[in-house]
Amino acid sequence: MTAQTFIFFFGGFDSVSTATCFLVHEVATKPDVQNKLREEIDHVLRQPTYEAINNGMKYLDAVVNESLKLYPVAGFLDRLRVKEFDLPLATSDGESITLKPGDAV
Ligand SMILES: *[C@@H]1O[C@H](CO)[C@@H](O)[C@H](O)[C@H]1NC(C)=O
Repeated sequence: MTAQTFIFFFGGFDSVSTATCFLVHEVATKPDVQNKLREEIDHVLRQPTYEAINNGMKYLDAVVNESLKLYPVAGFLDRLRVKEFDLPLATSDGESITLKPGDAV
């Protein structure tokens, strides 16, 4: 139960607050981005509809994506293979790689 609470806390709370901190930092240190973002938000808030807020903030969406790309909240996700799997060849002269059950990916 303690472990689940810990995961719930860091998965839901810490990741969002950390991502938001990096986003705000990026916007605060880039006045051109901040101004363009403010203009978009001001424009949408003149007639705030569900559609406008959900689909009309393309620049905000791009800024959030860029911030998450620069500062990913999850550095990596590892998984263990449960079945054998042959990776497709990246090049025609490359060697085949087989992932076996228990291999970390
Ligand atoms: C932001 O990322 C989401 C999820 O990958 C994607 O659906 C959306 O198109 C991206 N937005 C922009 C503006 O690139």
